[in-house]
Amino acid sequence: MSAAKPLVVRHVEELRSKISELKSRTAPGRGAGAPPLRVGFVPTMGYLHDGHAELVRRARAECDVVVVSVFVNPLQFGPGEDFTSYPRDLDRDVGLLAGQRTDIVFIPEATELYPAGADTAVVVGAVAQPLEGESRPGHFRGVATVVTMLFNAVSPHVAYFGEKDWQQLQVVKQFVRDLHMPVEIIGVPTVRESDGLAMSSRNVRLDPDERTAALCVPRALAAARKAYAKGTRSPEVLERTMMDVLNREKRAKVDYAVVVDATTLRPPANKKAELRALVAARVGKVRLIDNSAL
Ligand code: PAJ
Repeated sequence: MSAAKPLVVRHVEELRSKISELKSRTAPGRGAGAPPLRVGFVPTMGYLHDGHAELVRRARAECDVVVVSVFVNPLQFGPGEDFTSYPRDLDRDVGLLAGQRTDIVFIPEATELYPAGADTAVVVGAVAQPLEGESRPGHFRGVATVVTMLFNAVSPHVAYFGEKDWQQLQVVKQFVRDLHMPVEIIGVPTVRESDGLAMSSRNVRLDPDERTAALCVPRALAAARKAYAKGTRSPEVLERTMMDVLNREKRAKVDYAVVVDATTLRPPANKKAELRALVAARVGKVRLIDNSAL
């Protein structure tokens, strides 16, 4: 099924016809009446790293057809955010995806997804309000709208999202459930550098000094995990433990460091709630986010 080079597609109509062609084709060794091929989808904004590659590896292992999109979505960046300086390298991305045996790479222009006159958005409720929703107004509206469009263009059976963007994963699960979208959402654990920093396309914009400073984020999460393992359950105490670590790094400007219900992203309603620690901090020009189970 997978050619060495993925097929690069730039238009929704062409994408639909290529995917339905692949879907209806019977895989070798499958008998007549076998189920249709399973389509796995990984949406990205490109400048791919091993975190993205891990999502593609999962898709490749679990699906027959693997589709990856590369689109820096203007709608999810606020005014004054890094849309124009977001790193881009399409040739390198296609090369990396070839190495992961991707079947189709969808690389639309902004005018393909948002033609003149487009005037509809997907707006998610409570789970999209706190944390990233507060720091980046309109961000999840942009994410939910583009992911909905991409799902409509690809019609995947299953789509893969990183736990790195934990709140995004919860937002996607929410609108998929609420809008009865026929797609299974799979969360994939965060891939880290050997020193613990979560891989991110934005990390290339850290200078060596800032790269060292950025380690306060995974260290704060590790401190919360350690305190939790020793029996601390109070979100306030766990948050203070993280702030103690973050405040020691003068180059980091903390946006939030919280311990909340893993699904609602709100303060836990009871003692049984699964907890998640989440941190956002600015180091130099880069806004880092990371999170951890407790
Ligand atoms: P992007 O930041 O490119 O991330 C694409 C996918 O890769 C997301 O699901 C993200 O959580 C996952 N990812 C990023 N870094 C990771 C890491 N270190 N380990 C594991 N997974 C990681 O997230 C977006 O793009 C966009 O918001 C998008 C969903 C494509 C909509 O525009």
